Amino acid sequence: MSLRVPIEPLEYRSGALFFDGFSLESLAENHGTPLYVYSAGAVRSRLAAYRAGIGQRRHQICYAMKANGNLGLLGVLARENCGVDIVSGGELFRALRAGISPERIVFSGVGKSATEMVEGLENEIHLFVVESGAELHLLSQVASARGQVARVSVRVNPDVDAGTHPYIATGLRENKFGIDHEEVLATYRLIQELPGLEARGIGFHIGSQLTDLDGFREAARRIRDLIEALRVDPGVVLSHVDVGGGLGIRYASEEPPSPEDYARLLCEELPYPEMTLVFEPGRNLVGNAGILISRILFRKQNGAKVFFIADAAMNDLIRPSLYGAYHEIWPAIRERMVHPISGADLVGPVCESGDFLARDRELPDLQAGDLVALASAGAYGFVMSSNYNARLRPAEVLIDGGEARLVRARESYDDLVRLETL
Ligand code: LLP
Repeated sequence: MSLRVPIEPLEYRSGALFFDGFSLESLAENHGTPLYVYSAGAVRSRLAAYRAGIGQRRHQICYAMKANGNLGLLGVLARENCGVDIVSGGELFRALRAGISPERIVFSGVGKSATEMVEGLENEIHLFVVESGAELHLLSQVASARGQVARVSVRVNPDVDAGTHPYIATGLRENKFGIDHEEVLATYRLIQELPGLEARGIGFHIGSQLTDLDGFREAARRIRDLIEALRVDPGVVLSHVDVGGGLGIRYASEEPPSPEDYARLLCEELPYPEMTLVFEPGRNLVGNAGILISRILFRKQNGAKVFFIADAAMNDLIRPSLYGAYHEIWPAIRERMVHPISGADLVGPVCESGDFLARDRELPDLQAGDLVALASAGAYGFVMSSNYNARLRPAEVLIDGGEARLVRARESYDDLVRLETL
């Protein structure tokens, strides 16, 4: 256990755990626990890796902000000229508030409401990614009633097995996402017929946390066949091809392809220099750039089993409970890894047996009062948190330019009841 090294920007300095230059102790002392901490530098270097793989190719990176919608973090991406992929009116609001320009916003999702469509049109977002004929009909009505034209891209369901957790696989026919690839040509015909719509793009998203390139290659080839078929039709001029997100990260021993190789592959498989290649990375940009810091409240033994009871719980980070996801646990004091405890659980205070952050694992020999970092918590961490058990959601800190800045305050008891009445 002691031979392993944490994922950057986590590192040990003289036996104490640091994240992007700040010790866990100082972060916890200044901001309390549980605490999410993000590294702007780590996000920027991932972004640079995408751009290196893309090279001179015309492109737009539209960060899938569902992974982490914190305003401070979005601000970093806005300053890097990133766009965003949104899936709700709320995400549109956040994106605009963070200074993301509307012409860099794409609106995905299977269930946009008429109100959300109006919001997108009002703000003149770049395009709507449509996922069904029914959605096209509604968008057509909404746009033409306002005398506007909605630019649309069709999300194709390429029927490709991405080989990931069933909850986050989206490219199979049995999933609710996208339009069956056999119905795609008819869908573009429908777009031409309906008022208030203009076909601009085509795309796919086959799933999340993919750790090899095969699924992406296969999906890109299917899309390429469709682009070729559509080229025959003079009424359809596509300017965008959207390759979705889904590139995985290291949580444990995975070895996902680099963003450079991934981006290079898609540029090669979709050789249309006149089209803008849209990338929608979520997890890969921010996942390894964030941690959740928690303090151990108690150490408890039931028979041979050791439980470490932490002040963070499933309401703060639901991925282990929901997907059986693995997050590395790194103690603030490196010494604690010398005599690890096997078959131990790291659990939270929530009243559910499903409330665990690590189950049946070899864990450090933690003591009450210790701090731990749950690694790779920058994506689908805070955004999936809740107030279950009337727990206050954690604060969020962003490290940028040698400064650790609070970008979301810890909730207060008043926040819990602010919208309620007796
Ligand atoms: N584009 C679309 C249309 C998507 O549906 C998603 C994610 C993405 C992009 C970004 O995917 P990423 O690059 O992050 O893999 N809560 C789950 C992940 C759900 C992903 C949903 N869609 C988790 O914690 O693993």
